[in-house]
Amino acid sequence: MYSEPRLRPAPLNAIAQAAGTTTPPALRIGMIGLGTVGMGTWTVLKRNQSLIAARAGRAVEIVAIAVRDRVRAAEKLGDLALQNVELSGDPHYVATHPDVDVLVEVAGGTGPARGWVQAALAAGKHVVTANKALLAVHGEDLAETAAAHGRQLAYEAAVAGSIPIIKTLREALAANRIDSVTGILNGTSNYILTRMRDAGLGFAQALAEAQQLGYAEADPSFDVDGIDAAHKLSLLAANAFGMAVDFDSVHIEGIRDLQRADIAAAAELGYAVKLLATARRQGAAVELRVHPALVPERHALAHVDGATNGVLVHGDASGPAFYSGAGAGAEPTASAVVADLIDLARLPASHQDRSVPTLGTRLHADDAAPAVLPISEVVTPQLLRVACDTGLCEASTVRALEKSGLQVLRRKWMHAEDAAPALVLLTAPVVDSLAANAVQRLQARNGVIVRRLRVHSLD
Ligand code: HSE
Repeated sequence: MYSEPRLRPAPLNAIAQAAGTTTPPALRIGMIGLGTVGMGTWTVLKRNQSLIAARAGRAVEIVAIAVRDRVRAAEKLGDLALQNVELSGDPHYVATHPDVDVLVEVAGGTGPARGWVQAALAAGKHVVTANKALLAVHGEDLAETAAAHGRQLAYEAAVAGSIPIIKTLREALAANRIDSVTGILNGTSNYILTRMRDAGLGFAQALAEAQQLGYAEADPSFDVDGIDAAHKLSLLAANAFGMAVDFDSVHIEGIRDLQRADIAAAAELGYAVKLLATARRQGAAVELRVHPALVPERHALAHVDGATNGVLVHGDASGPAFYSGAGAGAEPTASAVVADLIDLARLPASHQDRSVPTLGTRLHADDAAPAVLPISEVVTPQLLRVACDTGLCEASTVRALEKSGLQVLRRKWMHAEDAAPALVLLTAPVVDSLAANAVQRLQARNGVIVRRLRVHSLD
């Protein structure tokens, strides 16, 4: 049975007693999920119990958790914990429990999670979630439900782990017209790319390591195929540009097909390969795209390694500002979950609906929202790696590319130990469709294999 928690952090009691007042009621949390992020949230709330209570002005306590396997969950939490926390097999029961003030949804997925969040909001709970997939697909609906019930839907943990980037865009940079947001938003892919470059690991081995470290999604294709980064980008773009969350319009390419020789070719010309998520104004339109891209080695984004995330924001008043930190893992993500909980604990009882708009403020009527620029119209420099081993081939390649409208700025021969000789070329910025056509023609006419990577144009 559900039982009222008994633990109260000592400092708060002491402060209240000294002031002759009663202890403010704890903020009571019902949590769905006890995986990596759920366990991290539990651990941070326990370890930092006193300081969290002091900052929040009251205790923050988990009172119920919905889990798939209660025996396993009990083992993870320990006996003592279970005197104060009810474990349930029914997420809906936890989401709507009368003694729960806030639902923390850290189970993931878009199907059932949507129903739990809706039920919790309708039952008058605030919701904190780390579920970017849910918000990228149903964020608009859920934000409306939250507003209709005068409750908060908080999701700092959904984007870039420990980096407070939602708060940054929505609050700290609210004075700015944002021109671009460029991020390394998926820790797993970045970890894989880093290990492929530094340790010479193959893709599968690096992915297995990332899974072991708890970075990867339940379905790791979300990580390596760019979908997770696109979920996050659509949330950042909504907050940055005041547009609707538009996951379906994000152009997505992942890192699955990247070869070690691609990374080596980029390095030959002084670039690192990163899975970049870019949201950028282009006239009246915006670019929304996730794909592997070359970043100059001197640039801050090139030095974001391992599971670290990095986000570069250009505001018209702030200028460029760069944020980086752990983008995945138990406690870094829990850091953001618990920060949202502290914000909610601080809301006065009489103003539970007083907070910032869930997805930033819509700055355009829907029919005047910026159009998303198709990838075919995006302009970037290109790196081409051409399987060429003679001067003749080099000359005919450059001639063919220039005939197709590409301007070759640099070229270099590459003789990697484990790959055939290749000609590496850097072009001037060019419209994507033109570059794609030129490569197709070159392959068909000259019979050479060409690899193409976009180079990030630095703002
Ligand atoms: N799978 C995600 C990542 C977890 O690798 O970044 C954090 O959202």
